[in-house]
Amino acid sequence: MLPMTDDLLRYRSEFPILDRTTYLISNSLGAMPRGVYDALKGYADTWATRGVRAWEERWWMLAVEVGDQIGTLMNAPRSSVSTHQNVTTCQQVVASCFDFSGKRNKVVYSDMNFPSVMYFWQAQQANGARVHMVKTDDGITVPTARLLDAIDEQTLLVPISHVIFRSAYINDAKAIIEKAHKVGAHVVLDTFQSLGTVPVDVAALNTDFACGGVLKWLCGGPGVAYLYVRPDLGNKLQPKFTGWFAHQNPFGFEVGPMRYTDPPFRFMNGTSHIPSLEAAVPGLKIITEVGVERIREKSIRQTSKLIALAERHGWRVNTPRDPEKRGGTVSIDMPDAPEVCRELLARDILVDYRPQAGVRMSPHFYNKDEELETAIAAVEEILKERAVAAR
Ligand SMILES: Cc1ncc(COP(=O)(O)O)c(C=O)c1O
Repeated sequence: MLPMTDDLLRYRSEFPILDRTTYLISNSLGAMPRGVYDALKGYADTWATRGVRAWEERWWMLAVEVGDQIGTLMNAPRSSVSTHQNVTTCQQVVASCFDFSGKRNKVVYSDMNFPSVMYFWQAQQANGARVHMVKTDDGITVPTARLLDAIDEQTLLVPISHVIFRSAYINDAKAIIEKAHKVGAHVVLDTFQSLGTVPVDVAALNTDFACGGVLKWLCGGPGVAYLYVRPDLGNKLQPKFTGWFAHQNPFGFEVGPMRYTDPPFRFMNGTSHIPSLEAAVPGLKIITEVGVERIREKSIRQTSKLIALAERHGWRVNTPRDPEKRGGTVSIDMPDAPEVCRELLARDILVDYRPQAGVRMSPHFYNKDEELETAIAAVEEILKERAVAAR
């Protein structure tokens, strides 16, 4: 039987690396679209020929255009998404909108968050934040009931991952956001591991903030992260991590108190990362054209296949079996997983290893079913070779 979504394979020719490798690492770095060559050449040509006029003609508004393109993928209204360099910076922008000196100063999250986000919030204890971290029981899921219990009247912020980077578990974002709102707290939803592979609807979720980057599932390369701020908050909040891009009259170069402009510039600060923004455009265009619904359908089929193959070999799968609770990655903890990962890389099968997860395999819309079989067969062969060598 032919897979229903095989027509997505026609996009393979857009990604040069797919000819040379078995590319199963879109959870870490999505494949580069060939259009990036032209996008970066265009950037250099613009700089070379238009010089400083490039700001007015293209660059100043590029951050907004890219933000809007990302916003379309998560049902965010125009001008509600600002762009930044990385997710950690997005956390800083959000933190700077709040005051941690009062009674409501608790920050609640799960230990399954991405570590950079946790390092950031732990460091905010020096500014008065009280961190409450809920621990996972099984290394795969987040104990939702305990997380909800921890969100109380003193909670200011709940920074949580939508999809967990280690296990691909999909957090119950709706329940977390509802509880947070019931007690007057705000949620910062990290959609880095969901947007582009799992449907995200910030309006339906009613999240206060959403952030992520484009370099993984959105095939946009390093250097561009996004921050969605719900429009009713966007016009009220005043980030203290700010700068001239957020000023009502940036070219007035006024001396004196800050006068905030409207979103999305309101949440920006200094000069934009233009080359990264240019490089992000081709990937966003392709993902938009393919559509996240089709990507998700194929992802569920392929991750299910990977789980079945891994289980056939008796390897531990650190990813939810229920597709409704699983993002785009399958974490497989076979014996000697770090060494197996290194050997897979040497064979041009691109995956990664994460402690407490195993080897992460992440098929995207451009992967063939045969590539999953190739990767699993290679693991089997490597383990056999290692067993023979150990004798
Ligand atoms: C869920 C999640 N959040 C954040 C990050 C990265 O954060 P930053 O953009 O600050 O490097 C990653 C992965 O790199 C991630 O998987």
